[in-house]
Amino acid sequence: MKAISLILLHLLVCQCSGVIYKLNDSDFSRMPPVFHLDDYDHCITNPDGLYCSVDIDVVSDTGSELYSMMKTYSDYNRKHFNHTSLHYGICVTHTCKKFLPINAMSKTLNNTGDLSNTDLQLVLETCLNESLWNHYELKTKIAAPIYCNNIEEQVKDGGHLAVGVFLLVLLTMNVIGTLYDAVFVRGQNRAGNNLLLCFSVPHNFSRLINPYAKLGPREERLKVFHGLRTLTIMSVIFCHSLLPFALAPENVHYVESLYDNIMHFIFLNGTVVVQTFFIISGCLLAYKLELYAENHEINWTLLPKILINTWVKLTPSYMVVLAVTATWLGYAGSGPFWKIAVMREVDDCRIDGWANMLYINNYFDHTQCMVQTWYLASNMQLYILGYVTCILIKRGRCRKAALILLFIVGIITPIAHTYFQNLDAVLMITPETARSFMDNPTFNHVYKRGHTNIFNFVLGIALGFLIYRLQTNEVNMQKYKKYRYLFLLTFPAIAGSMFIGSVFYLDGTSTSIYTKAIYAGLIKPLFGIILAILIIGCVFKIENVYRTILEWNGWKIPGKLSYCAFLLHIALVRIATGSLRTLVPLTNLRMIEITIAFIVMSYLVAIPFWLLVDAPLTEFLQKLLTGSLCQRTEETKEVPDNNIALMNNLKMIDTEKGNSRL
Ligand SMILES: *[C@@H]1O[C@H](CO)[C@@H](O)[C@H](O)[C@H]1NC(C)=O
Ligand SMILES: *[C@@H]1O[C@H](CO)[C@@H](O)[C@H](O)[C@H]1NC(C)=O
Ligand SMILES: *[C@@H]1O[C@H](CO)[C@@H](O)[C@H](O)[C@H]1NC(C)=O
Ligand SMILES: *[C@@H]1O[C@H](CO)[C@@H](O)[C@H](O)[C@H]1NC(C)=O
Repeated sequence: MKAISLILLHLLVCQCSGVIYKLNDSDFSRMPPVFHLDDYDHCITNPDGLYCSVDIDVVSDTGSELYSMMKTYSDYNRKHFNHTSLHYGICVTHTCKKFLPINAMSKTLNNTGDLSNTDLQLVLETCLNESLWNHYELKTKIAAPIYCNNIEEQVKDGGHLAVGVFLLVLLTMNVIGTLYDAVFVRGQNRAGNNLLLCFSVPHNFSRLINPYAKLGPREERLKVFHGLRTLTIMSVIFCHSLLPFALAPENVHYVESLYDNIMHFIFLNGTVVVQTFFIISGCLLAYKLELYAENHEINWTLLPKILINTWVKLTPSYMVVLAVTATWLGYAGSGPFWKIAVMREVDDCRIDGWANMLYINNYFDHTQCMVQTWYLASNMQLYILGYVTCILIKRGRCRKAALILLFIVGIITPIAHTYFQNLDAVLMITPETARSFMDNPTFNHVYKRGHTNIFNFVLGIALGFLIYRLQTNEVNMQKYKKYRYLFLLTFPAIAGSMFIGSVFYLDGTSTSIYTKAIYAGLIKPLFGIILAILIIGCVFKIENVYRTILEWNGWKIPGKLSYCAFLLHIALVRIATGSLRTLVPLTNLRMIEITIAFIVMSYLVAIPFWLLVDAPLTEFLQKLLTGSLCQRTEETKEVPDNNIALMNNLKMIDTEKGNSRL
């Protein structure tokens, strides 16, 4: 007890080192607002209207007391925005009218581009210097590039055309396929042409609403994954849909004060839930491989086939979203935040999109191109690792050794990165990180890499083998039923493990690098092991509370749409944020409203996307690869061509998308 109070005292005493943790309201309101927008629509409805978004560095050449307070306050960046760096949207032709050179006005009039960038910078700086001096006795420097509504019209190029044509062809195929299906196949009750049926909406719709229909009783027991996958995707969308509040909050002080709210830590450390996907992927990989091995010999020739199959399942819709992001997304709206929220991603995708297609984008930093897909890249790399290990090493003992080796690697890599690169123990969602999300070293080196996420994938593989073994040997798991209360503790334990991370947000603490490194190494395994226990409890019906929730049949369809929702949701969030005309006040109700809206919207958009893009393209490519395109469906059933049998089995291996995908 004494020790604890000593530690607490120590923590409190440490708060003295010239850092301002809190400001009272009157002091806070002395500072210039970090975010400000002039009326956007009013400005640009005027044909001469020039509206610019600028990042402003506040400076002071008079040794202002206010300025040093702002600096000290901002230095505590764990919970505070950088108050010396302002983000304003300014209607130059209105707010800074008197600083515009006379001829500049006429130049904007005849639309020849307009003021050169340096002129503009000078105008804005003079203008802001004056207003900030009048109100706060501060001066400014314009920092980053200035984005204005009428500078540089976006150019369309061949890429736009190609993507447009492709989408048009795809849509036409869907129309043809649907008509063909309706008129010739369903109408006359006969087998149809395989190629055209891929693109039939009714055909795909029935696949959507009867997902996982063909599973055997053993696989059926894995249905807990539908719920897990859907809930995890929903929490991912939940977190991402807070972007508007990070980019354009009206009540900055309140946002900062949320960091002292204990409930908030669930979100802040919630990033670890993504690990759920790795466990599911690994588990299905091992489990389906074992099922496959029941009827087939496993040898290395399986490897390329399986990998191609996995690639085919993930890539077509991913490629479509990427292509649209790199081209047409930029035209989906406009607003003061359009450049930072949307155009930055569009531009980055044009440059770095190729890395996404090769599934190596998680090893490239400093790009905003579909940031959420670091997970797909990571997962693909781990798939390759997992399949190579499980297919090439067939002897039980060697395989065990290999898995143990990988476990160790999985624990050591985050520790080593954190220690040697002096990173944070967890991905710290500080206000500025959430705002710009650029080059966060912890995100880059530990969070998104493949080799730092090995542990839970391998844990998933081990879990898959274990579940298969227990099922085939018909081990009686009911005897563990008396421990079901322990299984009930898994969920509180998961929540608890998220809370532990909040020590890194405590005021006035600076944890040693050893603590951080060890925490970074152990948090993912801790989460993974608890989750694995929960999964076992559900699969073997040891525990009934979480099982009833997670195995609810209503998760099946959203589970199937999850991949599409995952691909699309960031674009929705970005468009909505980019189209903001005003700052958004953060309140609890507003937060719930917005997050639910984005979750629902993502799934709604995912339905047509799945029907028209994902399902047809994947099925088409799969048939193309197995060469069963030209056959009629009946024949496919009758001719058990080796190759088709294999492919069908592979299809089962990660049955009906989602399973392997997420
Ligand atoms: C706020 O804090 C400052 C100094 O930190 C103090 O001078 C001022 O009186 C406080 N204002 C209120 C309303 O408490
Ligand atoms: C705040 O922003 C200014 C200007 O961009 C920068 O020089 C300073 O280092 C930033 N402060 C912190 C704590 O990041
Ligand atoms: C635009 O207006 C300016 C000033 O009236 C004039 O000098 C310039 O030639 C005009 N440019 C074009 C392309 O009309
Ligand atoms: C604005 O004020 C800063 C600080 O005094 C100064 O460096 C800068 O040149 C000023 N800008 C203009 C355009 O006068």
